[in-house]
Amino acid sequence: MKSSEKRAVLTFSDATPGITLPIYQGSVGPEVIDIRSLYGKTGMFTYDPGFLSTASCQSAITYIDGDRGKLLYRGYPIEQLAAQCDYLEACYLLLYGELPDRDQKQEFVGLIANHTMVNEQMHLMLRGFRRDAHPMAVLTSMAGALAAFYHDSTDINNPKHREIAAIRLIAKMPTLVAMAYKHSVSQSCPYPNNALSYSGNFMRMMFATPCEDYEPSDVLVRALDRIFILHADHEQNTSTSTVRLCGSSGTNPFAAIGAGIACLWGPAHGGANEACLGMLQDIHAAGGVARIGEFVARVKDENSGVKLMGFGHRVYKNYDPRARLMRETCHEVLGHLGVDRDPLLQLAMALEKVTLEDEYFVSRKLYPNVDFYSGIVLRAIGIPVSLFTAIFALSRTVGWIAQLNEMMADPDYRIGRPRQLFTGTVLR
Ligand code: SDX
Repeated sequence: MKSSEKRAVLTFSDATPGITLPIYQGSVGPEVIDIRSLYGKTGMFTYDPGFLSTASCQSAITYIDGDRGKLLYRGYPIEQLAAQCDYLEACYLLLYGELPDRDQKQEFVGLIANHTMVNEQMHLMLRGFRRDAHPMAVLTSMAGALAAFYHDSTDINNPKHREIAAIRLIAKMPTLVAMAYKHSVSQSCPYPNNALSYSGNFMRMMFATPCEDYEPSDVLVRALDRIFILHADHEQNTSTSTVRLCGSSGTNPFAAIGAGIACLWGPAHGGANEACLGMLQDIHAAGGVARIGEFVARVKDENSGVKLMGFGHRVYKNYDPRARLMRETCHEVLGHLGVDRDPLLQLAMALEKVTLEDEYFVSRKLYPNVDFYSGIVLRAIGIPVSLFTAIFALSRTVGWIAQLNEMMADPDYRIGRPRQLFTGTVLR
């Protein structure tokens, strides 16, 4: 970051002496006011619940232009990465800052392939869960439990440990997600097949059975791989901020990623894809497109507490570029499967059209986000609704790790410890 000539001058309406604060400019995006000296100089905190105006860190990984609906991983537009790369190339880019050349890619793919199995004891752990356990409950537990099996990569301050933990987590998340799914349908989970691609291997673990193997179609594998890319990272979102804050205590990488998975589960965040499909299914069951007006009226009634799931975003005040790419993938996959007249897709497109012309949504700059179409694609691919957020967690693991590693390598990083505005009883 570069110091700006500009300074922030803070003056007070009473006799409190004013102070001057430095302003920094990143390579692009809003400038920041460095308030680290504020409490020492004034005895006051800033107040920003929800962090609407707070930059928690500096980062070189992902840039979002919310007003223009742009998303860049290490400077590459998401549209180009989704069209020209596969997920492991995007992982390499996020982790190391550059796209891999042929040899680097071959080595990275080989490393990931050689870490796809989990310790056999984890299969015993899985059997302890009820069959109807939510996959995110299983995944939160199993990802964090990896720390119980890999004692040689738990020192987050050791770059070598961080490197091997990153490979293990990226490699094992598909296995853990498939295990959670197979457990829920009372089937055994096939072992990973290292001859398959990352996404092809996941599809096979999900859908193969001991009675017959599963040959995933290239179109579906490519679509899923693209969905992984679209969800891979997204600046300082809630779960990434959770991972950074958790890692700042010096805990191990597996525990920090487990915390990120737990946070992603929430319906306001990664759980929105599952909630959005449920919303579409409810409207469809109630009468479909004919009932959109009634549903939208409930959303606009602030006493209803009903939100349009898959819409709105803290940063995007324009169309989420991932939603556009996801809609394209919808048409491609449903067309390939011969279900492009899928009633839920028709309903989603009709709902989007209505809301983008409605003053309530336009005035609040509410547009479809990544979760609006993703559920329709995942459902068409055969992924059960309950697994949607687990797929998001699988994809986002590389982003969480890249952001965590960036923080741990930053000499300025410190343990995160916000303060508060105390409004309780003073002394009794
Ligand atoms: C993800 O941060 C990230 O980058 C997240 C993510 C990632 O990749 O990591 O992009 C993934 O989490 C996408 C978001 C998925 N969540 C949903 O789709 C759930 C529905 N959306 C909302 O809950 C909401 O839009 C949030 C949580 C996403 C954003 O909330 P904000 O920024 O705090 O905005 P807000 O709640 O203050 O909304 C501003 C106004 C309010 O109305 P008023 O008080 O001004 O009258 O817009 C309204 C809100 O009531 N509003 C909505 C709405 N979202 C906001 N009204 C109806 N439906 C919605 N979806």
